[in-house]
Amino acid sequence: MPKAKKHDSILGATIEEIDLRNPLSEEEVIFLKESLAEYEVIFFRDQNITPKQHKDFASNFGNLQSHPVYPTVEGFPEITILENDEKNPSKIEKWHTDMTFKKTPPLGSILLGKIIPERGGDTLFASLSAAYNDLPEELKKSLNSMTAIHSFEYGFKESLAEPYGREKLSQALKDNPPVEHPLICTHPVTNKKLIYVNSLFTLKIKSLTDSESSELLDFLCEHIKQEKYQCRFSWEINSIAFWDNRSVIHKPDNDYWPQLRRMERITIDNTTPPS
Ligand code: SIN
Repeated sequence: MPKAKKHDSILGATIEEIDLRNPLSEEEVIFLKESLAEYEVIFFRDQNITPKQHKDFASNFGNLQSHPVYPTVEGFPEITILENDEKNPSKIEKWHTDMTFKKTPPLGSILLGKIIPERGGDTLFASLSAAYNDLPEELKKSLNSMTAIHSFEYGFKESLAEPYGREKLSQALKDNPPVEHPLICTHPVTNKKLIYVNSLFTLKIKSLTDSESSELLDFLCEHIKQEKYQCRFSWEINSIAFWDNRSVIHKPDNDYWPQLRRMERITIDNTTPPS
């Protein structure tokens, strides 16, 4: 059986004694699901897997999505390519939870490091449940009844127009109207409460005026990204990060530019919306 080695940080563990080229047993899948919920992001090293093995591994955890705009690996519409170099710097600058612009955002993503720069390019993760725990009790109570609006347009309009074309983007804008999620959600496996906002897609808090909403959102987005809630993952070729998209925010450290960095990501559907 695989083992989880917890990191020193508040979240994160490396899973050892597992070979993802092989089909997983039922016990291994259960172990990984439990580890994902407990540690919020799990990491693997030295997994030299093919796109098919990446897809087979991810399929153990749910149905697989395709991204509305990003390019994909040939023959594998589920595998999104995130490739950046001198001419195409990363546009993912903000802390985010993937696709909260959807009614049911993904359960998680499995990111595989294919070309890793010599220096930099780590990925940062932060725990939304740890950030919730530290809020003053009074604030927890008032946030509990609030709803936030999440928007694809707010998150992507600027960054996707140029590289991927206006036509693709305008279709994606039509397909993804703004959605609402509770501001405080409960993780369906651990029952931990968490602050469900992110600076990329959360446009507004519904019951507040524009200025009250942006003040509170600014405060919450600063609060959740504090270093004490974070872990940092340094990539090697064939490393994997599998994050629980129900309970973390994340972002790449774009300090590697202008070096080449190529990652391949599979995103797994969730079956229930955040609540
Ligand atoms: C992502 O935001 O999904 C990608 C993170 C990374 O490239 O490190």
